[in-house]
Amino acid sequence: MGGGAKMRPEPAQEQALIAAAYGAAGAAYAPYSDYPVGAALLFDDGAIVTGCNVENASYGLALCAETVAVAKALGEGRRGGLVAVAVVGLKSGIEPITPCGRCRQVLNEVAALGATDPLVLCVSESEVRRVTLAMLLPHAFGPSNLA
Ligand code: THU
Repeated sequence: MGGGAKMRPEPAQEQALIAAAYGAAGAAYAPYSDYPVGAALLFDDGAIVTGCNVENASYGLALCAETVAVAKALGEGRRGGLVAVAVVGLKSGIEPITPCGRCRQVLNEVAALGATDPLVLCVSESEVRRVTLAMLLPHAFGPSNLA
């Protein structure tokens, strides 16, 4: 995979990323919403970092899958290089999940650090909706605004 903001995954990498998101959803801790979510982040070195939603008896403290994945990636020392994201919600017969507003902002942080505009694959049983993070979060506030 080459560098630059427009780097895009190969079809096989997209499939691997979606499979990783499904795998992550399998570990979701979502006893309150009964809505397991998995997210997978693909980086420019080929690494995939996953996350699942983690709920809490104090409902409002729930962590989304994308946020958990970003926290793991940043916690591993990753600072940019985000090429693509896959998100899957394990409920059948509904529209593909798209990252919530907070997760868009959280994803933007790691994307902005490497000046990439990652492809976001929003996955349901019947559809993969392909958007970019900039489409989901235009005119984003990020690290450069504080520089
Ligand atoms: N959720 C995510 O994990 N990602 C999103 O982008 C939207 C919502 C989770 C949070 C909560 O655990 C459950 O889905 C229902 O809102």
